[in-house]
Amino acid sequence: MDRPIKRIGVLTSGGDAPGMNPAVRAVVRTAASYGIETIGIRRGWQGLITSDFVKLDSTSVGHTLSRGGTILYTARSDEFMEPKGRERALTTCKMLGLNGIVAIGGDGTFRGALELSRLGIPVVGIPATIDNDIGCTNYTIGFDTACNTAIDCIDKLRDTMQSHERCSVVEVMGRNAGFLALYVGIAVGATAVLVPEHPLNFEKDVVERIRASRLSGNTHFMIVVAEGVGSAVEIGKRIKEEIGIDPRVTVLGHIQRGGAPSARDRETATRMGFYAVRAFAEGRGNCIIGTQEGKMVEIPIEEALTMKRTLQKERYQVMKAMQIGSHMT
Ligand code: F6P
Repeated sequence: MDRPIKRIGVLTSGGDAPGMNPAVRAVVRTAASYGIETIGIRRGWQGLITSDFVKLDSTSVGHTLSRGGTILYTARSDEFMEPKGRERALTTCKMLGLNGIVAIGGDGTFRGALELSRLGIPVVGIPATIDNDIGCTNYTIGFDTACNTAIDCIDKLRDTMQSHERCSVVEVMGRNAGFLALYVGIAVGATAVLVPEHPLNFEKDVVERIRASRLSGNTHFMIVVAEGVGSAVEIGKRIKEEIGIDPRVTVLGHIQRGGAPSARDRETATRMGFYAVRAFAEGRGNCIIGTQEGKMVEIPIEEALTMKRTLQKERYQVMKAMQIGSHMT
């Protein structure tokens, strides 16, 4: 970048994630420490089109570390995906004198970032989604809090399933990925965990798991289903048809997206916010801040968008090994 950075915009886009507020706070305070002004763009990329902004400073982002959701609001903008929408967004950037944008969100947010960068506005991305499904980073802000929320809910479900000697089928979010389900499934000691990355063999993955658990003396069962596998209600029906027990189905849904961010999410978000602004201050841009092997890294947006994240084989094996009567071969 040829010109010194004087003013940047920050926005949150796509599905919200606990930790977005700490990331915004870190962007604003780091920018202030470099003498850079920050403008908050409300409602994601859509706000850049409609010029929906708020001036932010170190004081105005105070007391936001522990707040779930996003103080900047968020949206998924179809208009920004069209060249006309992006031209309007460019006009807003010029009008406000923005030298760069920090975009906090998931894959869709970064696709938008790439398009805007092609119009000459440098963008730095911060990965935030409870799905933890972004290729260029092994952690996305919000995942830890969502896991803890799901675990807390499932622990409570287990109490009542145990009292009534029932089977529980719980659907967790994750879009097309099984990271959330697998992590949560390991942490709650699920009878079975179904993820979209492994084609479902109902007899082996569900019926045999429940049967083995029953034969070992258990009278309640916990089946964790990633939403990408399909409807937990359908899984419940099949269990009833094939084993004769009458499961209770719970879809955790958007509750997983709320709540105060965990320590990990606050700390990671704060560091990512710092690294994002530092990149701009040192004359770099058009990258995503990721974590790889415990370190913060900058990955060029274009390259980042080609990277795929696959479900960890090792973690899947661990989950399998914890199941009663499982065989690794
Ligand atoms: O990407 C986050 C996520 O919560 C996914 O897990 C889920 O599939 C989706 O967003 C739900 O989106 P919406 O809030 O639009 O219903």
